[in-house]
Amino acid sequence: MTIQWFPGHMTRARRQIQEKLKLIDVAIELLDARLPLSSRNPMVDEILQGKPRLILLNKADLADPAVTREWIDYFKQEGFSAIAVDASSGQGVKEIPALAKELLKDKIEKQLAKGMNPRAIRALIVGIPNVGKSTLINRMAGRSIAATGDRPGITKGQQWIKVGTEMELLDTPGILWPKFEDQNVGYRLAVTGAIREEILNIEDIAFFAVKYLTQYYWEPFAERFGLEEAPEDFENPDEIVAVMEAVGRKRGCLMSGGRVDLEKASSVLLRELRAGKLGRYSLEAPY
Ligand code: G4P
Repeated sequence: MTIQWFPGHMTRARRQIQEKLKLIDVAIELLDARLPLSSRNPMVDEILQGKPRLILLNKADLADPAVTREWIDYFKQEGFSAIAVDASSGQGVKEIPALAKELLKDKIEKQLAKGMNPRAIRALIVGIPNVGKSTLINRMAGRSIAATGDRPGITKGQQWIKVGTEMELLDTPGILWPKFEDQNVGYRLAVTGAIREEILNIEDIAFFAVKYLTQYYWEPFAERFGLEEAPEDFENPDEIVAVMEAVGRKRGCLMSGGRVDLEKASSVLLRELRAGKLGRYSLEAPY
């Protein structure tokens, strides 16, 4: 999916979400478990205007489970209800209706006290592109929902998808956008393939990945690429580039004269990371 970065696009996306807020009881904010803050729109609190919110750390199957647990604690300390899910396999997804109900407990109790029969909880999924919104909608619906998207020119009423008997989900998610003021945010997103790598320089993206992964996941990294010596000083760019060159040599990314083709090595390395060849890893931790 291509992401458009124009301010006009952001304003429109924000307006569309705010229109949908009137229809729903709870917002489901989808983040990437490997990079929860970088995959989060920093204005989300303002955009969601105090709507009760459930945070889902999706793609938890790809993330470091210990770090994901730390993130869940972090979001709970921030006052949110948060769980780890894997929308692809459905792991954790069944818990969503009960958690949404828990968030709305006071409202539901008041309705019951007034003799009202509470209707199904209405929810909207929001998140940046590629975080797994459609996958989750399909998983919650128990079938494939045609991707309609929020495209101009397509006029279409809101469709509600039943999730069991107690929840209804809007069939089109709210699309948020990541923020790149901190370049590392862009690098993290690019490492996972959430944004197209042409936006940044591929060697810089691979450099960022190698610097982080050799520091925090040296063993699986060394095993995957057949390396022996970890960098001594992770802040020394020459040592990180030396690792990139070693990976390039292992993968046969050589130019005439035997020099390592760093661009090619970067591309191979990122492809292997995205294909999950390194195992589970996270790209940022809360503490
Ligand atoms: P979006 O609507 O938010 O833009 O995201 P979408 O559901 O299209 O998901 C983006 C990619 O992330 C898809 O992969 C999807 O399969 C994958 N994905 C979503 N949730 C999970 C998860 O919990 N775990 C893992 N491992 N992957 C997840 P894709 O390669 O773009 O497409 P495809 O291979 O599924 O066809």
